Amino acid sequence: MKISSSLQRAGLALLCSAALTGAAQAQTAAANQPVRVGVMLPFTGTYAPLGVAIENGFKLYVQEQGGKLAGRPVEYVRLDDESDPSKAAENATRLVKRDHVDLLLGTVHSGVAMAMAKVAKDTNTLLIVPNAGADNVTGPLCAPNIFRTSFSNWQPAYAMGKVAASKGAKHVVTLTWKYAAGEESVRGFKEAFEAAGGKVDEQLTVPFPNVEFQSQLTQIAAAKPDAVYVFFAGAGAVKFVRDYAAAGLKDKIALYGPGFLTDGTLDAQGSAAQGLLTTLHYADGLTLPKDQSFRLDYAKTYKLQPDVYAVQGYDAAQLLAAGLVAVKGDMSQRDAMVHAMERAKIDSPRGAFVMSKAHNPVQDIYLRQVKGNENHLLSVAAKALADPARGCSMN
Ligand code: PHB
Repeated sequence: MKISSSLQRAGLALLCSAALTGAAQAQTAAANQPVRVGVMLPFTGTYAPLGVAIENGFKLYVQEQGGKLAGRPVEYVRLDDESDPSKAAENATRLVKRDHVDLLLGTVHSGVAMAMAKVAKDTNTLLIVPNAGADNVTGPLCAPNIFRTSFSNWQPAYAMGKVAASKGAKHVVTLTWKYAAGEESVRGFKEAFEAAGGKVDEQLTVPFPNVEFQSQLTQIAAAKPDAVYVFFAGAGAVKFVRDYAAAGLKDKIALYGPGFLTDGTLDAQGSAAQGLLTTLHYADGLTLPKDQSFRLDYAKTYKLQPDVYAVQGYDAAQLLAAGLVAVKGDMSQRDAMVHAMERAKIDSPRGAFVMSKAHNPVQDIYLRQVKGNENHLLSVAAKALADPARGCSMN
C-alpha cells in the first residue's frame, strides 16, 4: 500500500514536471515568434511624410538591435489610415481581429488616434501612439495598455503661450485646421497666454486638410494683431508658411506655432520660414550624444535627415523594447510588461524622458528659431513639462 502510493506520487510528479516543461517550451516557442506590430499610419495625404518618418524611426531602432527585440523578430502589418477618422475604428479593429497583431502602433492624426484608443481599450490591445497629440488619449481615454511617445497637444502650445507673452504680444489671432489637434493646441496656447495677461481676440479655422488660406490671411491683415498663432503640419504647414510670407505678413506680424509648423518642412519652405520661432520637444543643435548617433544612423540608413516624427517612432520602439525585455519577450505577462514601460527612462534623441502617470512623456519643450535648414535651439521654454492629464483615471 505504502509502496504503491509513493509510486503514484512519483508518477504524478513526473506528469507535473512534464506538463511544466511543456508549458515552458510553449512559452519559449511563443517568445521566439515574431512580434506582430500593426503599423497604422498615414501613407497618403498631407500627413504622409510624417507617417513615413515615424515608420523609419521605429524600424531604425529595431535594426540597431539586430532586427530583434528581447530575442523576438519583428513583423509589420502595414495599413494606410489616410488620416481619415471615419475609417479609423474599422481599420484598427481589422488589425486586431483579422491580422492578430500583438500591438497597435499609430498614428499621426488626433481624430484617428482617439478611435484607435477606443479599439485598444475594448480589445485590451497594447497601443503606442508615436505622434497624435489628442489630449483625450492621455486624459479621459487613458488606460494601462495605452502609451504615447510623442506629446500632448497641450504641451508645446502651452509653452508657446508663455513665450508669446514674454515677447510682448498682447493681442493674438489664432488659425488652425478645425479638428481636435488644432483646437486643443489653440486652447493650450490661450491658457498660458491669457494667464500671462495677453488676449486671444479671434480664433479662425479652416477644414482639415484644406490649404486655401487666402480669406483668413485677409482677415488677419485687417485685424492687425501683435502676433498670429497657428497649428499646421506636413504639406499644409509648407503651404501656409509660404502663403503667409507671400501675403506680405511675415515681416509685419509675428508668426508663432508649435514646431510642427517648421519640422521636416524647411527644404520646401525655403526663405518663407527664415527666423520663425516655434516650440517643440525636439530641436537642431541639442549636442546630446544620443541625438548625434541617432542622426548619423538615420542619415546613413535613409539618406535623409530625421525630424521630430522620426524621433517619436524611434522612441516608440525603445518603449516597446523596454517592456519586452522585462518579460523576456513573453507578452502574455501584460501587467509586468506595462509596469516596465511605466518605469522606463527612454534615452531619446530629444533628451531622456520618463512617462507621466497617464503614460505621456514628461519632457523639456525647446524654443527654436529657423536658421537656414535648421530649427536652431535657442533655450528651454518649459522644463520637464508634464501634461495635466485632465480626466484621466487609470484603473
Ligand atoms: C495631430 O493630429 O495630433 C497632429 C498631427 C500632426 C502633427 C501634430 C499633431 O504634426
